[in-house]
Amino acid sequence: MNIDELQSVANAIVAQQKGVLAADESNPTIRKRFDSVGVESTEENRRRYREILFTTEGIERYIGGVILYDETLRQGTRDGVPFPTLLAGRGIVPGIKVDQGAKALALHPGEKVTEGLDGLRARLDEYKRLGARFAKWRAVIEVDENTLPSPFGIRSNAHALARYAALCQEAGLVPIVEPEVLMDGAHPIERTEAVTARVLQAVFTELDAHRVLLEGMLLKPNMVIAGKNCPHQAGVQEVAIATLRCLRRHVPAAVPGIVFLSGGQGAADATDHLNGMNAMGPQPWQVSFSYGRALQEPVLAAWRGQEGNAAAAQQAFLKRCRLNGLARSGQYARSMEAEI
Ligand code: 13P
Repeated sequence: MNIDELQSVANAIVAQQKGVLAADESNPTIRKRFDSVGVESTEENRRRYREILFTTEGIERYIGGVILYDETLRQGTRDGVPFPTLLAGRGIVPGIKVDQGAKALALHPGEKVTEGLDGLRARLDEYKRLGARFAKWRAVIEVDENTLPSPFGIRSNAHALARYAALCQEAGLVPIVEPEVLMDGAHPIERTEAVTARVLQAVFTELDAHRVLLEGMLLKPNMVIAGKNCPHQAGVQEVAIATLRCLRRHVPAAVPGIVFLSGGQGAADATDHLNGMNAMGPQPWQVSFSYGRALQEPVLAAWRGQEGNAAAAQQAFLKRCRLNGLARSGQYARSMEAEI
């Protein structure tokens, strides 16, 4: 394990103003996203769409890393430049989603565990040869108002995350460790905080047992917000306070960065919440973003599969990158949404 390399990649991804673009939708997921704007999910359309994202001028100021999907890592621009080469040439670190999805956890109704550990060592070696410098693995934790998640469900997912993270570091890739407590459901923010706390505790216990170097990883958690069907939705300040309280209690200061997922929040809400946290002053770790939908929804809506809309799509993308870049230092305001 090359400790200096892991640390410098992790730090580069969350350098000042910067965060991560999650463009690692699996083919079934990108199909859903394309369906919502009436675009057919062919291999060429997926390539065209990713080319629009990765060639947007100016994003390198705000995007430190991009998470790719297996197919995308092997694709390139219409001129034949491989996407990892294109990104690296712009100073953006290429990454790769390596999990194979959350599947039903046997004998635990309502719970999932993420698969993809078998054969992972060989896949990581290949991804590194193809240019990836970091990886992502997402665990999914479902919440209800009292019984879910079970302690065993949490432990199983934490264990898989830590095995993945250790394999990544062995291969010289920075692991993004993503334990996502879902926002689906009607539970209040207090329940999200209690569950997130237990999950993070379990994850760091397992990371320690697996000898994962905290300085050479990034954490990708959910924010602490109420379930999306909860009648009381917390305000920005409440979310920022609850999220930072939970993270400060459970995430060691040695971790260089926290890169939040957006999880189905609207684009402006995700930016506002990130801003709220950074407005509370310096934290032990960089407080940043690794958004999929919250960066891409406005881009897809502008593009709609039409070549003539590519410039408008890139403008929409650069705007979201810029606003999230401002939120990295607490300088975003909701009124900026109206600006181009
Ligand atoms: P969202 O920001 O759309 O939740 O996606 C982030 C991600 O990479 C989920 O694994």
